Amino acid sequence: MAKPFYITTPIYYVNSKPHLGHAYTTIIADVAARFHSLTDTDTFFLTGTDEHGDKIVRAAAKQNITPQSYVDQISSLFRSLWPELNIRNNAFIRTTDPSHIAVVQEILQKIYDSGDIYFSEYEGLYCFDCERFYTERELEDGKCPDHEKKPEIIKESNYFFKMSRYQDWLISHIKDNPGFIRPERYTKEVLAFLREPLDDLCISRPKTRLEWGITLPFDENYVTYVWFDALINYTSALGYPDGDLFKKFWPVAQHIVAKDILKPHGIYWPIMLKAAGIPIYRHLNVHGYWNIDQSKMSKSLGNVVDPLQLKDTYGIDAFRFFLMRDMVFGRDSDFNETALIERINADLANDLGNLFSRVITMTHKYFSGCVPSTDSETEQAMAPGLQQYARRAVEQYLEAMGAFEFHKGLAAIWKLINRSNKYIDQTAPWNLAKEQSKHKELAYVIYNLLEGLRIISGLIWPIMPMTAVKMQEHLGMGGIDDPHRPLLNVNLLLEWRGLPSGVQVKPSIALFPRIDVKKRTPQSSKNSKKQLSPAKLETKPLIDYDLFSKIDLRVATVLTARKVPKSKKLLQLEVDCGEKRSVIAGIAKSYAPDDLIGKQVILVANLKPVKIMGCLSQGMLIAAVDSSKCTVATPDMSIDPGTALS
Ligand code: MSP
Repeated sequence: MAKPFYITTPIYYVNSKPHLGHAYTTIIADVAARFHSLTDTDTFFLTGTDEHGDKIVRAAAKQNITPQSYVDQISSLFRSLWPELNIRNNAFIRTTDPSHIAVVQEILQKIYDSGDIYFSEYEGLYCFDCERFYTERELEDGKCPDHEKKPEIIKESNYFFKMSRYQDWLISHIKDNPGFIRPERYTKEVLAFLREPLDDLCISRPKTRLEWGITLPFDENYVTYVWFDALINYTSALGYPDGDLFKKFWPVAQHIVAKDILKPHGIYWPIMLKAAGIPIYRHLNVHGYWNIDQSKMSKSLGNVVDPLQLKDTYGIDAFRFFLMRDMVFGRDSDFNETALIERINADLANDLGNLFSRVITMTHKYFSGCVPSTDSETEQAMAPGLQQYARRAVEQYLEAMGAFEFHKGLAAIWKLINRSNKYIDQTAPWNLAKEQSKHKELAYVIYNLLEGLRIISGLIWPIMPMTAVKMQEHLGMGGIDDPHRPLLNVNLLLEWRGLPSGVQVKPSIALFPRIDVKKRTPQSSKNSKKQLSPAKLETKPLIDYDLFSKIDLRVATVLTARKVPKSKKLLQLEVDCGEKRSVIAGIAKSYAPDDLIGKQVILVANLKPVKIMGCLSQGMLIAAVDSSKCTVATPDMSIDPGTALS
């Protein structure tokens, strides 16, 4: 029987439109659900909207509409955004759903009956924006840390939940279940908070002050506190207590939240579950914040990033990829559109896109577009291909993705992509193709590369489903009848030789067109005050074209690289520029020799040979050098070594 996997996002407040932060959390949940569907797993992915509370009443009043029509409007913005980002949630819960309201009342009654809810007069510091009471020690400079406003003193009778009773139990539960809250830094944060005595939680609001909420089943003059209502969505959406979904998925529940709501999820929620006699969720996965220019995204700063606009500009897959690749899960990250463009160009257009088009083009050029066949005799005679690398990449990927370390999962895929690109440069199929006797070797190399692409397509599917399907269609892989079900499961990814020989491959396409950074006006820098200084470039004396045309620039592939003995700056490279050459380059401070192998560079091919520190240099690499670093010029896509630049 398939294993169950249940993943949730926070249910988002409907007091503002969805932004980049909401999109990030929901994309992670989608990636996690898709990743688990690669194994023999039945997944359930829940998101939704949190629709009760003061904030909603105020936002509706501003627009002169009823709270219900206000929440209907904004909730539908969230609901309709997700399919646009290729997010496939199984359910969308709203806290105004009658079935949710019934479950909240049932759980409140259960906890009340067991004696964990009591009535008492209370005077406390209340932040109207957070809709909650604060203790003195939670305030920063006497102000609410989130809204930087002084809370007001409120005195009223209310219902309280005896959280303090469960403090020791919660500490033991966290300690006994490593990874209950992850990454580790957030476990520490919760345990640090639990070192101080836990206050009981005020879980009611008098209707005289707030009507837009769920009425307490044991006192109709009160509504319940929004968090008590909201957290219960994770169980009500599954049909608590008897629904089949609840029975199947609740025992494996995992939540994703950002660090802003660690406390309700890491403290209130497990205690509520314990008090109600419901098993505790398995994992709370906590991520960091996307900031803009080191500060919080906020309407007042006018720096709120619209995910739809990014998706329209760069494409869904590139946008999803960037979010997953650029944030280390658990840490904060600064969103920057220029970095997004650079990543698309480097990782997607260059690394993945070029690999794909090179391999498909060669399959057409050398094998009329048919996946070549290869035999075990040739395999044994040849140097190892990509099989070992592919297996290692799949294993590292599985481990990282299962532990919510998505950037590591992607790094594992990119190791295989980069290794495949190097493999092309090292085996130089264009040279093998020149000799009839090397035909079997050529078939072996191209087969390896196509098989590598098959595995890469399967690994990227959870993150970039559309690109994966496009690659699979091009590789002639049949059976893609539902683009939202993975074509390749884990077993097929761990298997080598999954691509049958003789299958026809479609003509090459550009998976990701390069983006011209200069033509884009990044959203996040629209408000930037930074001015470009007027151009004033001081050049060397002018030369005429005749003189320039005498310089012979060629594409060269680095075959070997090593340090020049006794030199901190120099590397000796052996390059293929149509012929083998030795070149000395002063780039040792910026490049380790291994980083250069397989890299394509630009060589001044007609410089008179010289000896530098006893080593022959037959040409010079073109590189950009400033005071601290240097970077070698490299062609935008792979091209036959020896090709002239004009
Ligand atoms: N309604 C509550 C959650 C109740 S869950 C039972 C709430 N809603 S919210 O609209 O404020 O959403 C907060 C969540 O949105 C964060 O925990 C995170 O998932 C996402 N993000 C909002 N802004 C974000 C960033 N700037 N960066 C990353 N994620 C952020 O709290």
